[in-house]
Amino acid sequence: MENNIMAIVMAAGKGTRMKSKKSKLVQKIFGKEVVKRAVENAKNAGVNDIVAVVGYQKEEVMAVLGDTVKYAFQEDMMGTGHAVLMAKEYLQGKKGKVLVLNGDVPLIRPKTLNKLIEKSIENKEYATLLTAIYDNPKGYGRIIRDEGGNVLAIVEEKDTTDEQKEIKEINAGIYCFDIEELLSALDKIKPNNAQGEYYITDVIGIMNKKGLKTGAVVVEDNTEILGINDRIQLEMLTKVLQMRINTEHMKNGVTIEDVNTTYIYDDVKIGMDTVIHPNTTIKSDVEIGEDCEIGPNAYIREGCKLANNVKIGNFVEIKKAIIGEGTKVPHFIYLGDCEVGEKCNIGCGTITCNYDGFHKSKTIIGNHSFIGSNSNLVAPVNIGNETFIAAGSTITDDVPDYALAIARQRQTNKEDWNKK
Ligand code: UD1
Ligand code: MG
Repeated sequence: MENNIMAIVMAAGKGTRMKSKKSKLVQKIFGKEVVKRAVENAKNAGVNDIVAVVGYQKEEVMAVLGDTVKYAFQEDMMGTGHAVLMAKEYLQGKKGKVLVLNGDVPLIRPKTLNKLIEKSIENKEYATLLTAIYDNPKGYGRIIRDEGGNVLAIVEEKDTTDEQKEIKEINAGIYCFDIEELLSALDKIKPNNAQGEYYITDVIGIMNKKGLKTGAVVVEDNTEILGINDRIQLEMLTKVLQMRINTEHMKNGVTIEDVNTTYIYDDVKIGMDTVIHPNTTIKSDVEIGEDCEIGPNAYIREGCKLANNVKIGNFVEIKKAIIGEGTKVPHFIYLGDCEVGEKCNIGCGTITCNYDGFHKSKTIIGNHSFIGSNSNLVAPVNIGNETFIAAGSTITDDVPDYALAIARQRQTNKEDWNKK
């Protein structure tokens, strides 16, 4: 869905609770930074015009986001309302809706964002926020509703009365605003609260006082709106994402023997009837065909492409490896920067020596070749079709089709040597 609306991602905060030298927004979940996930979620919801508000470690945050967004700068971190105000120049003179997102809420589904936008447009609401019902709402802003269920205001944890603390409905930090009324309300927020900050959440109360309609969408899946504020939450979100991705692959016909020890990053394609054994990590940008067997204890890194019926066994690490149909890579092997043909057998202990300390070089192996155990393939090197590499060889020269290559010291037996 293409939306003609814009988004502001608040990404200027420090994240003190993370206890890190790095901003919490550049912490990674499955290899991808928290803030990058937040931005991609908006893009996947069809919002392309995105402004990121940056401040603390802005160079690092900008290095992550690059030119995928425009930037607004917040010099003093005076709260989320103040952060949005920093993007004023991008909002002024515009009509329509703006999505405002906490940069530290990375697992929101694009379809949930679309639901928020749609409700906001259909119900003609000036502010629509995303909420959730939490058994333990501690730390989050609470949603105040009237008897009729209308949203009146958001109260931050630190500003709640004892009675308000009991409210289980919390603010996710994700909003859809009418641009003009947002700008007008932002001018009215004051730092009269426990933290002495300008809160974006105060906009809701201000709009209500003005008689403008506001509303909320209660999220169905609570895990979508988990925020990352400390390392415990970082682990929690990693688990959530792990289960989400694994479930998706299982629904598509992949057998995962142990979802708890299988770590599949984003952007991985796996064919039907492939079996993933425990303790396997598969990084982004990997394609695996049908009827493959992976693991246990396999590490499939970025850029790998496996055809159908490939076996990657235990303690095997592969990187940027293109592997042909029916090839077996059964145990204790490193293959990096290589192309392997069909129906090859790569013996135990084989290593592609792809790095000379300066450059990465390629190893090419043809179809139906047999690489004996403990072979070192010193790249760049070309091994033909139907070849046979003797076990223990260090291959530095190309091997022609149908050849046997032996590249090792001959054995000498010193008779009776051990009798002395
Ligand atoms: C915020 C909400 C709270 C909600 C929670 C959901 C406010 C006042 N409170 O609280 O109601 O339940 O999110 O996760 O908004 N940021 C800036 N500049 C600032 C301050 C913050 O850019 O001056 C950014 C942070 O980097 C972060 C986001 O805004 O990405 C939210 O800030 P954070 O301090 O995490 O707010 P919470 O206390 O979690
Ligand atoms: Mg937060």
